[in-house]
Amino acid sequence: KANRKAIIAGNWKMNKTATEAVELIDALIPAVKDANCEVVICTPFTTLVTAVEKTKGTNIHVGAENVHFEKSGAFTGEISADMLVDLGVEYVITGHSERRQYFAETDETVNKRTLAALNAGLKVLVCVGENLTQREQGVTEELVRMQTKIALNGVTAEQMANVVIAYEPVWAIGTGKTATSDQAQEVCAAIRKVLGELYGEAVAKATTIQYGGSMNAGNAEELLGKPDVDGGLIGGASLKADAFATIVAAAS
Ligand code: G3P
Repeated sequence: KANRKAIIAGNWKMNKTATEAVELIDALIPAVKDANCEVVICTPFTTLVTAVEKTKGTNIHVGAENVHFEKSGAFTGEISADMLVDLGVEYVITGHSERRQYFAETDETVNKRTLAALNAGLKVLVCVGENLTQREQGVTEELVRMQTKIALNGVTAEQMANVVIAYEPVWAIGTGKTATSDQAQEVCAAIRKVLGELYGEAVAKATTIQYGGSMNAGNAEELLGKPDVDGGLIGGASLKADAFATIVAAAS
C-alpha cells in the first residue's frame, strides 16, 4: 500500500448549482488542507468552471462525472475530453453504475470514454461493480473482472499511471448499506489480480483502487484500513464538508 496514492474523491452527482457549490468549496478548502491523500471533487459540468477557479492554489483537484468519447462534432448535449482539459479539469469518472443503469452505457462505451479521456491527458476513475442479483448469484468476481478488462481494453501500461479503479457495488450506492470491509477487500483484491494479469505486478501494485457505496464518516476508517482499499469514491457524504473531511482524514 505504501507505494500507492490514497485518493478520496467526491462524486456530487446531480447536486449543487454553481452558486451553491461556492459555499461547499469554501468550507472544504480549510477542512481538507492538511490531507495526506489526494482530494478530488467531481462536480456537474455546470460547476466545473467555478470549482477549478475556487480550488486554484489549494490541494483540491477537480473532476467531471462523465465525458463523451468522440473528439468533437454533431453530438448535441455532449462534452468532450478536450473541453474538460481546456477548463483545467484533471479527473473524470467513467462507467458509474448510474450512467450504466439510466443512460444505457455499456462496457464498450465505458472503454471508449476511458480511452478518450486518457488520450486527452485526463486521469480517470473507472467504476465497476455488481448489482444485488449478481451478488446473490455468486458472479461478483467474474463480473467485476470482465467489466475491468473491457473498460481497460487498449489502455497501455504507461497510461495505467492515470487510471484509478473504483469498486462500487450497486446495492451499496445511496442505500445506506455499505459493503463490509471484508467484502470490499475481497473484490478490490480480485481487481488488483486482474490488473496483474493484464499489466504485470508492478502496475497492479501501483494502481489505486477505491471503494464506493455509502462510505461515510463512521465507516471510512475501517474500509480504508483494508490492504487493497486505497481510497473512496463518495456520493452523499461528499456534499457535507465535515463528513467529507472526516473521510479524507481517515485516509491520511
Ligand atoms: O460514486 C459514488 C457513489 O456512487 C456512492 O454514493 O451516496 O452511496 O456514497 P453514496
